[in-house]
Amino acid sequence: MTLLEKSHNISPDGDARLRKQGYERSGIGLLERQRQACTYWAPHLERNKRCLLDIAQKLRAEGGPGGTLVILGAGRLLDVPWETLFPQFERVVLYDADSSIVPFVERLFSSVRHTPFPPPRFEIGDLTGTVVDTAAWAGHTIERSTSPEQAATALLEGFQRGGAECQPWAGSHADLRMVVSTNLMSQLGYFPRAYIQREFRTRFKQGFADRTAAAEALECYFDRVRARHVSDIAAQKNAWAFLSSDIETITYELEGEQKDLSKVEAPPGGGAFLDDTGGAQFHWPVKITGRSDPLHGQKIRNLWPAGTPLDPPQRWIWHIVPQGLEKRYTTCGRTHVVEAWTKRSAEQPRLAS
Ligand SMILES: C[S@@+](CC[C@H](N)C(=O)[O-])C[C@H]1O[C@@H](n2cnc3c(N)ncnc32)[C@H](O)[C@@H]1O
Repeated sequence: MTLLEKSHNISPDGDARLRKQGYERSGIGLLERQRQACTYWAPHLERNKRCLLDIAQKLRAEGGPGGTLVILGAGRLLDVPWETLFPQFERVVLYDADSSIVPFVERLFSSVRHTPFPPPRFEIGDLTGTVVDTAAWAGHTIERSTSPEQAATALLEGFQRGGAECQPWAGSHADLRMVVSTNLMSQLGYFPRAYIQREFRTRFKQGFADRTAAAEALECYFDRVRARHVSDIAAQKNAWAFLSSDIETITYELEGEQKDLSKVEAPPGGGAFLDDTGGAQFHWPVKITGRSDPLHGQKIRNLWPAGTPLDPPQRWIWHIVPQGLEKRYTTCGRTHVVEAWTKRSAEQPRLAS
């Protein structure tokens, strides 16, 4: 076991299932995109960071540094203003299923001459406590089944039974002062779904999505996981919380002269914004070619338990793939509508120390 593994919760060989299901090094693609399209991404990252800085300011007004900050799906901290936020806590715990974030984040901190906060602790594994198990079970079920029909029937029953228990992080920090879930919620089903689809296709040479009842049961299971994610965050009564997620995906095709945005700097705002009515507007003439819902019809507003002390949500557009940036996106681009929520702490302000 290396020193790195000893000081964090990383098993020496890692959980092989995380690698098999595609979590390992998954954030590298995201980082690559961000680097190539940094002027398009900047307004989104700034907006997300500003929301977190607003909470940081309120925490400062509540008292000196203290308590624990938990970041769920921390990734490479692209959208977290860690330089300002982390010094406000005694402990910072970063949860993610991708162990390759550890050396990245450690390098990030070492690039700063003096980091006025203790090194964060990493918790590498499935923060939901169930989705990786469910996907692994589905993989075994597919392997054991002798026909696609038999597999689909067993999967349907299994996914319908699948519960979403209290997520392990939620009961682990007695002095939790802030919890952050940024750009994670819609991702909770992403890797398990992709893994199940891959295993099904490899075994039976046909798509899992065509098994509509089983595929829908899987999505309803992910609904329960997301609902639990929000209710576990809401249950941290004495902590501030920030939750942001994409709630709609919009693809577009450029209609004018301009056909490749990867060669031009983004205009202010990243070239896409929401107007006063919440409609998507673009800097260039575009045709909207598709819309999809990464939350399967769930509305975050309805997932917060009644009485949760919330600020009004904010929305903005993240121009995630400008047209022309990637091979798959030579003739279209992709934007996400992001929704962000702040939950206030119920705790009385602490005396300044
Ligand atoms: C879209 S990324 C966002 C990362 C970060 N907010 C950023 O911008 O750098 C989502 C992150 O959640 C992690 N993740 C997804 N499902 C997870 C799970 N079940 N348990 C732990 N981490 C998970 C992924 O590994 C990834 O790092």
